[in-house]
Parts: sequence; C-alpha cells; structure tokens
Amino acid sequence: MTNPPRDLLTSRPRRLRSTAAIRRMVSETRVHPSELIAPMFVREGIDAPRDVASMPGVVQHTRDSLRKAVTTAAESGIGGVMLFGVPAERDAIGSAGSDPDGILNAAIRDVISEVGDSIVLISDLCLDEFTDHGHCGVLAEDGSVDNDATLQRYAELARAQAEAGAHMLGASGMMDGQIGFVRSALDSDGFSDTALLAYAAKYASACYGPFREAVDSQLKGDRRTYQQDPANGREALREVELDVAQGADVVMVKPALPYLDVVASVAANVNVPVAAYQVSGEYSMVEAAAANGWVDRDAMIMETATAIKRAGAQLICTYWAQDLATLLRQQ
Ligand code: PBG
Repeated sequence: MTNPPRDLLTSRPRRLRSTAAIRRMVSETRVHPSELIAPMFVREGIDAPRDVASMPGVVQHTRDSLRKAVTTAAESGIGGVMLFGVPAERDAIGSAGSDPDGILNAAIRDVISEVGDSIVLISDLCLDEFTDHGHCGVLAEDGSVDNDATLQRYAELARAQAEAGAHMLGASGMMDGQIGFVRSALDSDGFSDTALLAYAAKYASACYGPFREAVDSQLKGDRRTYQQDPANGREALREVELDVAQGADVVMVKPALPYLDVVASVAANVNVPVAAYQVSGEYSMVEAAAANGWVDRDAMIMETATAIKRAGAQLICTYWAQDLATLLRQQ
C-alpha cells in the first residue's frame, strides 16, 4: 500500500469530529428553548381537544386545554406561543376576530391570566380564520382582496388583541402597509408597548395544506395576489425593508426549509430579530415519513431546527417546540 501524498494530509478536519465532546465544543450552532415559538390552535364550542388528522400530535384546543398547554410550554422554557383562533361562526368581514368575546380574544385573556409575562404570547393578526370565504382580507365587489379596507379591519383586530393582553401581534396577512397602519392604530390607542411580528416574507406555498385543516379554512382558490411567488428571492428583501421601516419589531420568513436562502439574505440585511416559521406541511412531511419508519423523527426534528438557525434565523416557530425542548434537555 502506498501512503497518501503528504500535502493532502497537512489539514485534517476529521480531528475536530473525533469525539462527541470535541464535536460539541466546536459546534457553531445551538438551538435553545427560549428561541422557540409553539403555534397553538383554540377552537370555539368544543368540550374536548380535537386531533388535527393531517398533523399527528397537534390538536385544536378547548379554552381549558389551551391554558394547560401554555402553562406546560412556559414551564419547559419555550420562548413563546403563537395563537390561532377557530371560531364557530364566520362572516364576510371576519367579525369574530374583533369581537372582544370572540374565541381568539377570549383565549388571549385566559392565557394571560394563567401565565402572565412568563412566556411571550403572540396572537395571529389575520382575517382568514374568521372569514366565510377564507381570504386573509375583506373582498371588494369584484371578489378581489381589498388591501386598504383590510387594513381597517386589521387595526380593529389589533386593538382587540392588545386590549386582551397579547404581548406581540403576528401580522400574517401580507397586505401592503399593514405594519405601519397597525402600529399607528396601536400607538394612538395607548398600546405602544404591544410588539409587532411581521410575516414579512410569506410565500404562497403548498406547505400550508395541513394548517388549513387545523383552522377549518373556508378558502377556495389561492392567495397568490397577496402572498409571494416562490420564485422570488430579492422581493423578500423589499418586503422586509418596508416592514422594518414601518416599525416591525421582529420579521419572519415563512415557510422555513424551502426558503433558507431567503432566511440567510434577510438575516444579513436587517437589525431586528429574524424568525422562520417551520410550517404545517414541513411538520407533516416528516411525521408521515417517520410514521412509516423512513426517517428518524427525533434526528429530523433536531437537524431541521439546527439548519434553520444555521441559515440565520434567531427564532423558530415550530410545531415541534415542545418536543425540541424535551430533546434539548436530554442532550
Ligand atoms: C394565514 C396563515 C397561514 C399560516 C399561518 N397564518 C395559512 C395560509 O397562509 O394559508 C400557515 C401556517 C402553517 O402552515 O403552519 N393567516
């Protein structure tokens, strides 16, 4: 056997992989529970939690089971909860969203009285769960989504959510000007401490399928007139720049894994925290493959979270937040 040429071996990267302790010491990326946000669903008019079939392990909560789930999340050190409401009644303008007694606003109050400031409560600021047509905004006569009329509704929802005690509002509707409009509505009503998380770069993705079951979405058609074209990367920077200029406290890229290039370029271009939302379809794909024994579930959970952080996201919104907190404790 001839020895390999000497010059190939002056640098041996494998030295730093030789033991678990060395690998741990030189690891560039760590996931911490405080950077995780757990999305949760609360449904009006049910007396026991309901499974979401396309998202094994995820449920639609009752107000009571939600309170307990958020308490558990706070105790396990997770950073935040992202709350979505599923109302019993829907109409064209999503009235239930701004009704102080609507399911989302009532649940915000429940949760805050239970956990106070021990975990960050982020509420979904959007109309799609509340409208009978399923769009994220109100419709004009011709059936198109009316941007500016929608902003008025977002301001009303924002006031109701801030009043109920949400710490941060997750503006997920992708209307132009939504961050600035909601910010000034909140400020003029005395809610200047309520933070805004902007779904700044949100793509019209096929990965939202299971979520639409989770919120019982009424949508027929698609959201391509307001969510971004998956083909566009630079456009994300434009969206993010506008949201930061309008007062976004946190910007989010969504989905996560298919858009890690966008996460990286956004992280390189802003000075506010960057979040990435590992969405329902990303979750369900792994759960389905793991249920078939095709992938190692825990390893996939850890690897995907690490990859999202490595790309530049500081915060990860993920249905595995609780599982990750447990896995991280066992490390
Ligand atoms: C809409 C909204 C969606 C998600 C979060 N907020 C769905 C959509 O745009 O159709 C998707 C989240 C997920 O898939 O996990 N306000």
